[in-house]
Amino acid sequence: MGDLSGRISVITGGGTGIGLAIAEKLAGEGSEVVLVGRRLPRLEEAAGRIGGLARAYAADVAEEDQVRVLFDSLDRVDVLVTCAGGAYFGTMEDTPPQRWRQLFHGRFFGQINSCHYALPKMSDGGAILLCSGIADGANVPKYSGGSALCGAVNAMGKNLAVELAPRGIRVNVLSPGLIGDTAIESNLDDEGVVGLFEAAIGSTPLRRAGVPANTAEAAYALISNDYLTGVVLPVDGGWTAT
Ligand SMILES: NC(=O)c1ccc[n+]([C@@H]2O[C@H](COP(=O)([O-])OP(=O)(O)OC[C@H]3O[C@@H](n4cnc5c(N)ncnc54)[C@H](OP(=O)(O)O)[C@@H]3O)[C@@H](O)[C@H]2O)c1
Repeated sequence: MGDLSGRISVITGGGTGIGLAIAEKLAGEGSEVVLVGRRLPRLEEAAGRIGGLARAYAADVAEEDQVRVLFDSLDRVDVLVTCAGGAYFGTMEDTPPQRWRQLFHGRFFGQINSCHYALPKMSDGGAILLCSGIADGANVPKYSGGSALCGAVNAMGKNLAVELAPRGIRVNVLSPGLIGDTAIESNLDDEGVVGLFEAAIGSTPLRRAGVPANTAEAAYALISNDYLTGVVLPVDGGWTAT
């Protein structure tokens, strides 16, 4: 799938950060892009900046009905990228279980909802890119529920790659380490964010955070290389190599 001209790509979380960088890359390679998020104004602004065939679509991927309506409205999907989600930090003892459930509701079940309703519209030979994070293989403090989520997405991606191989649909997982310049939402205050960045950079051999463009280049490789499937690709400055 080298040339994306005439292709339709749906990118959840496509209005900001990693999803937006991937949308820009796919649009630059000729694809029509549909940016999905909950806040329409910033999706429209992002789509306007990308120009061409970029479209904004407001939907909460945690809500199954909204995801069904989204994919019902599309004739075809060639590429699905599921970047919608946030983060939550807390110890097991202090964190009400409901908070981890909420995290899974949007960031994990949002990816399940998107795959489920996109698949009937997906062309054979299409590509799905899920999004996890390196926390299942690297220790991220106060993130036990989030680490479980990352591991769940990785496992789902590998299993789905085998399930969909007969249709020629490839499934890979982008696993970001610390990526700056995004709008990621979490319960951390400013001081907490600074502490997280310091600790994460200290754990990263390249001693710096990545930028969304780093993930977009990796995402494009996973989407365009037609012999890559079932891959979980860390984009983490070497964090998981330590
Ligand atoms: N940045 C990192 O260091 C890092 C590391 C590992 C994993 N990740 C994961 O990578 C993904 C992208 O993160 P990012 O850093 O690029 O953050 P970001 O800029 O906040 O991007 C997340 C996007 O998802 C959208 N979103 C969130 N919940 C949604 C929902 N229920 N339905 C629809 N859209 C939703 C947000 O827009 P609305 O709020 O308008 O809906 C936002 O545009 C996330 O899943 C994040 O957890 C990030």
